[in-house]
Amino acid sequence: MREPAIAQELVRAVVAAVPPSVPVTVKHRAGWTQDHRNAPEFACAMVEAGAKMITVHGRTRTQGFSGKSDPDIIRQVRDALPAHIPLVGNGDVIDVAGYVRLREQTGCDAVMIGRGALGNPWLFARLREVTAGRPDPGPPGLVERLAVFRRHVDLIEALKRGPRMLHEVRKSCAWYARGLYGCNALRLRVWDAPDVAAARALVEDYFAQLIERQRRLGLAPESERGDMDREFAGDEAA
Ligand SMILES: Cc1cc2nc3c(=O)[nH]c(=O)nc-3n(C[C@H](O)[C@H](O)[C@H](O)COP(=O)(O)O)c2cc1C
Repeated sequence: MREPAIAQELVRAVVAAVPPSVPVTVKHRAGWTQDHRNAPEFACAMVEAGAKMITVHGRTRTQGFSGKSDPDIIRQVRDALPAHIPLVGNGDVIDVAGYVRLREQTGCDAVMIGRGALGNPWLFARLREVTAGRPDPGPPGLVERLAVFRRHVDLIEALKRGPRMLHEVRKSCAWYARGLYGCNALRLRVWDAPDVAAARALVEDYFAQLIERQRRLGLAPESERGDMDREFAGDEAA
């Protein structure tokens, strides 16, 4: 974002290399630093170079994942771009209310969701229902959560190897429990688990206890999700 001319060259080269039926799109941040938030000009430069859609994450490069994503800069990009270029807003959307808020605050045409989807694939069905004017189906029950956790870990085991596999499994254990009673204690225990089987067993035991507790106390299914910024600060790139 410090070198829009070079970024334009890249986009032009990609546009020239792909068939005309393939739309080239660009995702970028608010700017490089707080003092250099050039997203509106940068987005227009990308469109001039041939980009057909823009996505903006409302943090600067130097912010990493700290602080908050700024919807105002996304709105400024929407105002600057030609009306026919779709703008995807991105940053900190973790629930239906956040999705609706970002659309309203910025006028963006769609929303990209990153961390909010981790361990919460149900979010998309909820958004589909709400945006179609139907009632929010709400968060999943414990049994469904556990079933999807098991499938996720099965897939990690099938697709990953070595230390990376245990790391991915540990993260999944934390994601599927996030926002539930006792999830922080579970996360700490899972981080000490020596292998995938031990991590899985901790989660199975945790959910069994929660299901039993829910039945005994006649509780509502669960709380909504917790604070994503705190949990994921610095976890992933871009
Ligand atoms: C697991 C994961 C993988 C990501 N991979 C990419 C990527 O390949 N390219 C990219 O531009 N951003 C990537 N991001 C950043 C997200 O697209 C997004 O800009 C950022 O997470 C902020 O949105 P969020 O608050 O909804 O998470 C990734 C984020 C996560 C959590």
